[in-house]
Amino acid sequence: MLLLLFGPPLSATDIRFSCSLWGCQAFQERAKIWAHEHGHRLISYEVGRMADNLLGFYRQFLSAQSQDFDILLIDTIWPGVLGQHLVDLRPYLSSSTIEQHFKPIIDNLTDESGHLVGLPLFTDAGLLYYRKDLLDKYGFAPPETWAELEHIARVIVEREADPQLVGFLWQGSGYEGLTCNALEWIDSYRGGTIIDATGEITINNPQARRALAMARDWIGTISPRTVLTYSEIETTQDFVAGHAIFMRNWMEYWKDVEAPDSAVKGRVGMVPLPKGGADGKHSGTLGDMSLAVSRYSEHIPEAVQLIVYLTDQQAQHQYATDYSFSPTIMDLYAVLSAIPERSFMFAFKDVLLNGVARPATVTGIAYPKVSKKFYTTVHAILSGEVAIDAALNTLEADLRLIHHRANW
Ligand code: GLC
Repeated sequence: MLLLLFGPPLSATDIRFSCSLWGCQAFQERAKIWAHEHGHRLISYEVGRMADNLLGFYRQFLSAQSQDFDILLIDTIWPGVLGQHLVDLRPYLSSSTIEQHFKPIIDNLTDESGHLVGLPLFTDAGLLYYRKDLLDKYGFAPPETWAELEHIARVIVEREADPQLVGFLWQGSGYEGLTCNALEWIDSYRGGTIIDATGEITINNPQARRALAMARDWIGTISPRTVLTYSEIETTQDFVAGHAIFMRNWMEYWKDVEAPDSAVKGRVGMVPLPKGGADGKHSGTLGDMSLAVSRYSEHIPEAVQLIVYLTDQQAQHQYATDYSFSPTIMDLYAVLSAIPERSFMFAFKDVLLNGVARPATVTGIAYPKVSKKFYTTVHAILSGEVAIDAALNTLEADLRLIHHRANW
């Protein structure tokens, strides 16, 4: 864990803010301005490289009712897991501050008692990045279906004869990111969302089996075996170095693709992820992030003031233009549509806002267990360690057990 201090050392309120490395920079820059203007000191914890790393850290500190930090960066799947430890923000906020955000995200942050446990920072969804230059060179349009993606990848890899070039990179390591990827494949074949909104376990179905068989067959063909160890970070590094034709990633990684030192700058396009066959649908997992305040904070009013500042219109405009974090404030999409380098956010508004949600609301506090069982099973299938039918039978039984204990 990395600890960073900003602001005056004495006679100030310390506001402790935790985030993960990928997201810290954008939000810290603005938090530093706030701390400076208000004479507070900002203490920033950078925990791990991925959102996943934060959850264990939060659970450890919050269950001990630790006063060691005030502000938490929370993933869309965590309100049910952490909500009991978070401040209800409603009494501190005007209705316009809340209502400017996309309503389903606010609903996701609202618990059964009507408490609002976070303020949205940005939204995101899975998308397909493709090498426009290479597709153009061989006369291909971006793929509409997974079968088209497979075909294009095979043809270009073969014709380019570049030993470093692979077809398709995605997040195949055993962690939350694999849950997001696999949910997209399954949803694209209309195979459900593992557990449906009523709490029923739906994963063991023919469309899900078909989607998983497709992805298993990518390993060692259009996707290298190393993809089974990849998170967003490795995926982006390889794609930005010019080593892949297609990449599944979140929109926030567009800034890396377009960075001055990117080998593929100006040569990449983005489209919704392919459909699972002609009868399938384009699907992108939702990945919005919010800021919350710990109930055990000794500086709740200041912390709330800071998260309002970090999530307001000006802030979200800056995150969208300086980085590529998509706003949750609806009015900003019209503003971004007029900025040529960011008009793509407006074009993807529906994908970004109406993607497929992981079954976190219905499973509540049990979600991390559900997701871990799911991604561990998917990883074993992709690695060729288990047959799909047997693996899904076991997964279904395991999820029933979790269901029984958690009683969602
Ligand atoms: C991104 C998403 C988040 C998701 C994570 C998985 O950070 O914003 O929702 O859980 O990726 O790796």
